[in-house]
Amino acid sequence: MPALVLLGAQWGDEGKGKATDLLGGSVDYVVRYQGGNNAGHTVVVGDQKYALHLLPSGILSPGCTPVIGNGVVVDPSVLLSELSGLNERGVDTSKLLISGNAHIITPYNVTVDKVTERFLGKRKIGTTGRGIGPTYADKINRVGIRVQDLYDESILTQKVEAALDGKNQLLTKLYNRRAIAVDQVVEELLGYAEKLAPYVTDTVLLLNQALEANKVVLFEGGQGTLLDIDHGTYPFVTSSNPTAGGACTGAGVGPTKISRVIGILKAYTTRVGSGPFPTELFDEDGEALRRIGGERGVTTGRDRRCGWFDAVIARYATRVNGLTDFFLTKLDVLTGWEQIPVCVAYEIDGKRVEELPYSQSDFHHAKPIYETLPGWSEDITKAKSFSDLPKNAQAYVKALEEMSGAPISAIGVGPGRDETIEINSFL
Ligand code: GDP
Ligand code: IMO
Ligand code: MG
Repeated sequence: MPALVLLGAQWGDEGKGKATDLLGGSVDYVVRYQGGNNAGHTVVVGDQKYALHLLPSGILSPGCTPVIGNGVVVDPSVLLSELSGLNERGVDTSKLLISGNAHIITPYNVTVDKVTERFLGKRKIGTTGRGIGPTYADKINRVGIRVQDLYDESILTQKVEAALDGKNQLLTKLYNRRAIAVDQVVEELLGYAEKLAPYVTDTVLLLNQALEANKVVLFEGGQGTLLDIDHGTYPFVTSSNPTAGGACTGAGVGPTKISRVIGILKAYTTRVGSGPFPTELFDEDGEALRRIGGERGVTTGRDRRCGWFDAVIARYATRVNGLTDFFLTKLDVLTGWEQIPVCVAYEIDGKRVEELPYSQSDFHHAKPIYETLPGWSEDITKAKSFSDLPKNAQAYVKALEEMSGAPISAIGVGPGRDETIEINSFL
């Protein structure tokens, strides 16, 4: 029955792609359950580096069936170019399955995303500009276009008309833009129908049957816990639920089926886009983390904001996701610091606060309270077991584990598939 969820425990870019790929060889299905091509997941296999946006990271494991679940928003042009890019590199993508209920990111959703951000000015979210928010808004407003609509021209036309009705008013009257023509959008979308047809199916039925047949299913989250629309740093969040419950709604699998929830946790913290970030560094340490960690966005190429590890956030991720394990990534990036500060609590308006405040205003005022742990200088990238790590690196991992509330079952010591220390097996 084993169904596992693998998700980001911070603000995204924790190394989910690498972790999923690592497990991909031992699971039957890897399922994306939310988000879209706002995600950028890097997988390094030997000397080959892959940047995946919409496709589940299991696509690189030949025995694994990759699935795009109903909760995902799909930009068909991005999907097709990602598929052809992989095919050109010799990756077989023929096993891919796409839910007919997944919503489509239409060209007008991308336009609305960009225009809205510009209109917000200083208050912008810093979105990836991929149309994610407007597509989920259409879904909730019940004017979304689903993958299955591509196969009924009359329905598609009616739905695009309904969706554009209000949007064209906004675009022309509020944003001073040209109206978008229904025919043009319908024609573009119909052009994708045949190319996507071989992949489209009832993924909910299929995944439940697979679980009944004792297959191993891994649900791969995009983004991270603090970017969750309900549990993240709203409004500076993405428009879906990367948290564990999102796997159930976004794939059509009941919570009783999920046996393990793995939080991917970077040994320090990063964030892209706007919003509060208590441990953010504006000094040379921040610059060094960015340089050594290669902290540049896979999707937008923006520099990531960098800071020290925040145990308050990690504890929060354990709680809202019911984490059973952590996969700690990028420990190698911290090699060379004599002392490593770790945020253990916040000071908010003169008071010590141990848990993430629910009030947005409080979180904006939160100042990190640090404990400083001794660093190490030895190269750890060849370490294969926990005992291969220098004593101070071992102590750093143990301290993080204690503060974060779930066992650290694997440690990343480099970007490659094999640069991982496995402590407890995930399967
Ligand atoms: P994702 O969005 O969570 O999949 O993460 P990204 O791919 O956006 O960013 C993580 C980056 O860290 C990628 O460049 C990975 O190749 C790299 N990475 C993952 N794990 C490790 C690790 O343990 N050590 C190092 N040095 N790099 C890692
Ligand atoms: P992965 O899966 C980091 C951020 C954007 C912005 C906010 C809303 O690679 O971890 P959106 O385009 O989703 O409406 O933007 O969310 N964001 C991410 N940050 N990693 C991601 O994905 C992200 N996907 C969205 O920068 O702040
Ligand atoms: Mg990423």
